[in-house]
Amino acid sequence: MEEFIVTVDGPAGSGKSTIAKIVASKYGLTYLDTGAMYRMIALYALENNVNLEAMLENTKLDIVGNKFFLNGKDVSEEIRTPEVSGIVSPVAAIKAVRVKLVELQREISKGKKTILDGRDIGTVVFPNAQVKIFLVASPEERARRRLNEYKEKGIEADFESVITSIKERDHIDSTRKESPLMKADDAVEIDSSVMTIEEVV
Ligand code: CDP
Repeated sequence: MEEFIVTVDGPAGSGKSTIAKIVASKYGLTYLDTGAMYRMIALYALENNVNLEAMLENTKLDIVGNKFFLNGKDVSEEIRTPEVSGIVSPVAAIKAVRVKLVELQREISKGKKTILDGRDIGTVVFPNAQVKIFLVASPEERARRRLNEYKEKGIEADFESVITSIKERDHIDSTRKESPLMKADDAVEIDSSVMTIEEVV
């Protein structure tokens, strides 16, 4: 099968994963949530006080359907907590982490029809992708969506701390030296602030 790549980049809570999942099932594409990969490394860093090189050497990431396994353990829920969100951006700014995960992302997508969401997919991971989307929304709307997700999962959080954390992450992700969050020149920008999920799809 010929490789066909759709990239969806954008800031936290802009709706990337919601849209990518629906488009994937509608058009028969494989969906790859690259943020979950950075979150697994961040979780491992939270749990283990080891040095970075040893840590990267000892992490095995597996993705089976919509389940994420860190060294064989299902961590699909744990990688979405506010604690992991609080440290994932500094971890994702480390060059060695990005080198390892970008290689894995290209490997997983090899020869397949794939939609990937993240921050640097259209700019760095797949600069030649056939379709590139840059999804944005206002910080307030993104915080509201994230707060709803937490509520559904029974995680306690308040609007102020969620919006502060989102803005902090936006800042780190957009100003880091290694593959910062930015729109690829040839990406189509969609502002999802006042659009329904169906309209964005
Ligand atoms: O779902 P949400 O938008 O909150 O974030 P995510 O997509 O799960 O990504 C979590 C973090 O991983 C981001 O804030 C980035 O720091 C990092 N990330 C990245 O650097 N590059 C990617 N391709 C994907 C995520």
